Amino acid sequence: MEGKQCVRVLIFISLVSFFAVFFSITAVSAAQQPTAQQQLTNADCVKCHAGPPADIAANGGKHATITCQDCHVGHPPAVPREKVIPSCSECHGGKPHYELKGCLSCHRNPHTPLVITVGSNVTDPCLTCHSQEIKQLTEHKSKHTSLYCSTCHPVHGKVPQCLQCHKPHSSEMVQADCNKCHKAHMPTVVAYGDVPSKDCGACHKRAFELLTGSKAKHRTFNCSFCHQAKHKMIPECEGCHGTPHPAGIMAKFTKCGDCHHTAHDLNNWTSVMQKETPQTETPKKERKKK
Ligand code: HEC
Ligand code: HEC
Ligand code: HEC
Ligand code: HEC
Ligand code: HEC
Ligand code: HEC
Ligand code: HEC
Ligand code: HEC
Ligand code: HEC
Ligand code: HEC
Ligand code: HEC
Ligand code: HEC
Repeated sequence: MEGKQCVRVLIFISLVSFFAVFFSITAVSAAQQPTAQQQLTNADCVKCHAGPPADIAANGGKHATITCQDCHVGHPPAVPREKVIPSCSECHGGKPHYELKGCLSCHRNPHTPLVITVGSNVTDPCLTCHSQEIKQLTEHKSKHTSLYCSTCHPVHGKVPQCLQCHKPHSSEMVQADCNKCHKAHMPTVVAYGDVPSKDCGACHKRAFELLTGSKAKHRTFNCSFCHQAKHKMIPECEGCHGTPHPAGIMAKFTKCGDCHHTAHDLNNWTSVMQKETPQTETPKKERKKK
């Protein structure tokens, strides 16, 4: 602590003497007493401050289109430090984003304004620019809703992998599969297009084994061919088959499954005949009709 203070004092003294010499030389030709800022040019800064000019050259973004002295008016000790350091609001205003507190907590270095460090536990500041995600998170409450944006997005603009935090449902599933059924900001709303049956089979082992082991034509379909779009949707046989048998037959049987067993494991006809002996007449007619 003491050493650091000592260095500051030394720097201060050398600075005062530097300016004393600097201004006494330049003042000779000036008719009036110049102020420090009139004398210092942007080209002078780099002589004593290597960092900021290098930062701006490398990564200044649009701050490279203005000069040091557009932001730093005057110089210590003639002008106190508080006045030499500009506040962002001098130039940025009129948007919710510019009403945030602590600009420098993310824009750590004003000389590299687009190099952004996102702190931990950040949500509200993100909402000054992104509105869709919070809408999804709050309209479809899940355990993701209580996480901070920055928990998943610690680096601005980067998107995390689900597998950083979760295990897949089966050893065959990879990261690219997750988005077939889940959206990050509403993960419990499981919706899908055409997905391979083995993805469903990761959790529905019995249905998967019955269907793939069956001999009926249903075997050739993906689960999602019948259970369309939304998880837990159960289709009606009639949705695809209409009314395949005369009304008279159907009056006696409430469910298709009474004769056909289940969609995953349709009876083959021999077993239907055996089981349903008293009623076999009608199905037989059906068959002849074809
Ligand atoms: C001769 C060397 C020298 C030159 C030239 C010089 N500075 Fe400085 N500057 C210093 C020193 C030394 C300090 C530290 C003063 C202090 O701590 O009170 C300083 C402080 C500052 C500070 C305040 C930093 C802080 O955190 O307290 C700013 C801003 C600054 N200079 C910007 C500039 C700009 C812009 C230029 C060019 C227009 C410039 N300086 C030219 C030596 C110089
Ligand atoms: C867009 C406005 C802006 C421009 C342009 C700018 N600065 Fe700064 N500068 C700042 C702000 C704001 C701070 C205070 C940063 C902080 O508090 O951490 C700062 C801090 C400084 C400091 C003290 C801290 C440090 O990083 O060493 C120096 C020295 C400095 N600037 C010099 C310069 C020089 C030299 C240039 C031109 C090459 C320049 N600045 C251009 C806004 C600017
Ligand atoms: C003296 C005026 C001035 C000050 C002070 C200033 N800026 Fe800027 N800043 C600008 C200008 C001019 C631009 C370019 C604006 C544009 O093109 O719309 C800019 C652009 C930016 C950009 C976008 C950069 C890019 O490349 O797209 C960021 C981020 C930024 N400023 C942050 C800050 C922060 C944070 C502060 C305070 C630490 C600050 N600015 C202080 C003038 C300033
Ligand atoms: C929580 C972090 C965070 C805080 C706090 C923050 N910013 Fe930003 N800012 C960002 C991010 C992220 C971007 C987007 C950068 C990009 O486009 O890649 C940005 C972009 C900008 C831009 C350029 C784009 C635009 O929309 O104008 C400016 C200017 C800016 N910020 C100024 C400020 C000012 C001024 C403050 C304080 C009032 C501030 N920022 C506070 C994170 C932050
Ligand atoms: C000043 C406005 C601003 C702020 C504040 C801001 N962003 Fe961004 N963000 C942007 C812009 C602009 C992009 C680039 C969009 C693009 O490339 O289409 C972006 C991109 C992103 C992306 C990548 C988008 C993609 O399609 O790959 C993510 C993720 C992101 N931001 C998350 C966040 C999070 C989390 C926060 C809060 C820590 C945040 N942003 C704060 C403006 C901002
Ligand atoms: C940074 C870590 C992280 C990432 C990345 C992440 N999650 Fe999560 N997720 C969590 C945490 C923490 C929980 C809550 C776990 C608990 O309480 O058991 C959770 C819970 C869930 C839940 C259950 C939600 C509920 O309300 O029951 C689902 C589904 C989920 N995540 C899917 C995903 C998917 C899909 C992805 C990728 C798009 C993903 N997660 C990315 C951390 C993460
Ligand atoms: C559980 C982790 C998690 C949380 C919490 C989270 N995100 Fe995301 N975000 C992701 C993942 C993963 C993606 C990639 C897209 C996907 O898988 O659906 C993403 C994508 C994005 C994108 C790119 C555009 C898009 O929607 O695909 C933006 C912007 C974004 N997130 C902003 C935010 C903001 C703002 C918050 C806080 C309100 C937030 N995220 C909270 C994990 C998360
Ligand atoms: C074929 C669709 C599908 C795919 C692909 C899928 N999920 Fe799921 N996931 C679900 C369903 C359905 C649930 C809900 C189960 C329930 O209601 O309990 C779920 C639940 C979750 C849960 C909540 C906890 C649990 O295990 O029940 C997490 C976490 C999760 N998935 C992560 C992932 C990740 C990571 C991936 C990518 C490797 C992924 N999911 C791929 C359909 C899928
Ligand atoms: C992460 C595990 C998981 C995945 C992957 C998964 N499910 Fe489920 N599924 C469940 C759970 C858990 C239930 C609820 C079981 C219950 O209520 O008894 C369920 C329920 C169902 C139901 C409703 C059952 C009933 O009796 O009402 C159907 C239909 C269904 N799933 C089909 C599918 C299809 C099709 C896929 C693939 C697109 C799939 N599931 C992927 C875990 C999963
Ligand atoms: C999403 C549509 C869909 C649903 C729901 C559906 N099926 Fe099918 N089913 C088909 C298609 C397509 C075929 C094959 C037709 C062909 O190739 O001639 C088929 C074939 C059949 C066959 C002939 C089997 C064979 O191997 O020849 C029977 C019997 C059958 N379905 C009964 C049912 C019953 C009973 C249900 C309800 C428990 C049902 N289906 C639900 C679409 C569906
Ligand atoms: C041909 C259409 C069809 C196909 C293909 C299909 N299902 Fe089904 N599923 C149904 C019908 C119809 C029901 C309602 C019960 C019944 O009548 O068989 C059902 C019921 C279910 C149920 C709830 C009752 C039970 O049997 O557990 C689950 C879970 C289920 N299916 C998952 C799956 C999975 C996983 C796959 C893929 C391996 C799949 N289904 C393939 C039509 C189908
Ligand atoms: C009384 C028993 C019985 C009931 C109830 C029944 N079926 Fe059938 N169904 C049969 C028999 C037996 C056949 C075989 C006829 C044949 O081979 O042509 C058949 C054939 C079919 C076929 C295949 C036709 C073809 O062209 O190959 C479909 C599809 C079908 N039934 C759907 C249904 C649906 C959907 C229901 C419920 C609405 C239903 N069945 C109710 C006994 C029944």
